[in-house]
Parts: sequence; structure tokens; C-alpha cells
Amino acid sequence: MTAYDKAARERALAIRQGGRSRVLAIESSCDETAAAVVEDGRRVLGTAVHTQIPLHQKYGGVVPELASRSHVERVGPVVERALHNAGLSLPDMDAVAVTCGPGLVGALLVGVSYAKALALALNLPLVGVNHIAGHVAANYLTFPELAPPFVCLVASGGHSHILAVEDYVRFRLLGRTRDDAAGEAFDKAARALGLGYPGGPKLEALAREGDPFRYAFPAPFNRGPGLDMSFSGIKTALVNLLHNGEQRGEEISRADLAASFQKSVVDVLADKSVRAALSVGAKRLALAGGVSANRALREAMGEAAEREGIAFYCPAFEYCTDNAAMIGSAGHYALLAGQRSGLDLNAVPQLEI
Ligand code: KG4
Ligand code: ZN
Repeated sequence: MTAYDKAARERALAIRQGGRSRVLAIESSCDETAAAVVEDGRRVLGTAVHTQIPLHQKYGGVVPELASRSHVERVGPVVERALHNAGLSLPDMDAVAVTCGPGLVGALLVGVSYAKALALALNLPLVGVNHIAGHVAANYLTFPELAPPFVCLVASGGHSHILAVEDYVRFRLLGRTRDDAAGEAFDKAARALGLGYPGGPKLEALAREGDPFRYAFPAPFNRGPGLDMSFSGIKTALVNLLHNGEQRGEEISRADLAASFQKSVVDVLADKSVRAALSVGAKRLALAGGVSANRALREAMGEAAEREGIAFYCPAFEYCTDNAAMIGSAGHYALLAGQRSGLDLNAVPQLEI
């Protein structure tokens, strides 16, 4: 065992035994470079995010090569800024957590390499965190009393998973999308409507001015009794409506289309996740992932849960889209569960939950 391994193991043990846990967390899986300091998995002491939106905007989506290069430039300053905002410095840290997948491999590798170097230099335990588990943990930051078990819908740009959160580190997949992720469907629909990247928030803003009952989108798969979902048909229906209207020279209300599309997607997500909660007898349902920033979804899920007597949780807006605080929370609970990564930690682009 190396001197580093010995020191890291001892520090990890101290955390498990109830010692102070200040986790320095890094997230670089897609188009945000983020760092945070999180105490005891619940208190955010400082955060910093550098978003790459302006960098990718003119291409209409994330360009992986540009993303990696920007992460390399920004990761150092972002970590420094998070520490500064916390009023702390590197020697005050107790562990390092980093997103190791799923995500863009080049982007992930930047965070993973940086975290490994920090852990080695500071003799701190390192823990690789699954990005999806991180999204779930965003709820722990917003609701200090929330603890497993509960059911959580994680709807992001890459995933739409309904999970039974059995404990802090154990998840059972109850349902998932069979094709596009919900956020991906929002992004593609937004592109078809000429709204640009990132599409979700722009489509939501346009939908606010429209009539959600104007257009109906067929979603037969989602009417089945199973808990899996499908969004590509809804997106294709929107694209077809738009094209047919243009060809026939008909007036199509883009706001009504956006509102109707959003309602179709939101209804499926709310219906399936409440049904999933009922199927396992869960009394609590949470929401997470970038799409959880969508107000229509938050409202619909809250109302659907309330009708069934299920308590509903969703993260504060700042912890819905990608951030490092959620990785710090998940990292803390992974350490408590005895998980620790070696310095051979690698990025796994297709990492499963
Ligand atoms: O979790 P996230 O930041 O990154 C991934 O892990 O993918 O999620 C980003 C996704 C994008 O598809 C984005 O369009 C969507 O979340 N999103 C939204 C909203 N804000 C972000 N979708 C609908 N309404 C929103 N307000
Ligand atoms: Zn995410």
C-alpha cells in the first residue's frame, strides 16, 4: 500500500466514523465546469459554475472538442472560486468527489484528472460519483430532512430514469425512456421551432404564451401499463405539424405548439412517476435533473402526487441543472457507505446507475 493509499484510507475512515466531512466536488460531464464545497452532504459552503452556453450557441448544440478544451482552461479557476466563496482553502478539505460518468468522455476526463491530482497532492480520499446519483442528491441539499427510501424521476438531457432510491447509494430502475431523454426531446423540439440551444428553457418561455390544449400529440406507447416512456414520437409529431403547416401555407402558432408539446411531455413524466411511486408503495416522490427546472413539470408532478397522498420534492432551481454541489452531497454518502476510488479512477461515458 502506498503512503497516499494509507493516508486516504484513514481520512475516509474518520468521515465514516462521524468526523468532519467537507467535500470538494468537481463536475465536468457536459457543458458546465462546476466546483463546490459541501459539508456533511447537506450544507453548501461555496459553489462556482462556468457555463459554456455562449461557446456552443452558434453550433446549436454541445461540441465535445470545444467542451473539453474549455473545461481544461476553467477547472482550476472554478475550483479556486468555489473555495473562495466558501471562505476556505485546500487544506480545509476532507475529501474530493468528482463525476466519473455518464457524460462526454473528454469532458469527464478533465474533472477526473484534476480531482485525482488534488487528492494525491492533499492526501485526501477520492470518490467517483455517478452523475445521475448526483442529480438525485440535489434534493438532499434543498430538503435537509429528506432521506431514502423514495422514488425519484431524473429527467435530463441524456436520461429519463424513474428510480427507487433504496438507500443513499442503492438505486433500482423502475422505468426509463425507450428513445429520447425528456430534455433531449425539449432541445430537438426547440430547434425545430427555431429557438436554438439550450432549448428547454427557451421552449418553456414560449409555451407560457401558448394554449396547451390547441394541438394533440399522439403518444400511444405511454398509455400502456408499463413504466417505460417514449418521447421521440411526440417530438416527431411536432416536427410534422410544423412542416405540414408550412407546406400548406397554414398559420401555425409556435407558442401553442410549444405549450401543447410541453404539456404532452410533462403529462407522461408526471403520470409515469406517480404510477411508479404507487407501484412500490412509496409515500415520497422526488424530481431531479435539468428538466426539473421546468415549472409546468414541477406543478404537474406536485399536483399528481398530492392527488395520491404522496409527498413531493424538487430541488431549488440552482441545483436542477448540472452543478457540483449535488456531486459533493452524493460523494459524502458514497464515502459513508465505504466507497472510495483509487488513483486509477477512469471516466466511463456510458456509466449505468
Ligand atoms: O441535467 P442537465 O443540466 O444536463 C444533463 O445531465 O443532461 O440537463 C440539461 C437538460 C437539457 O436538455 C435542457 O434543455 C433541459 O435539461 N432543461 C429544461 C429546462 N431547463 C433545462 N427542459 C425543460 N424546461 C426547462 N426549464
Ligand atoms: Zn445532468
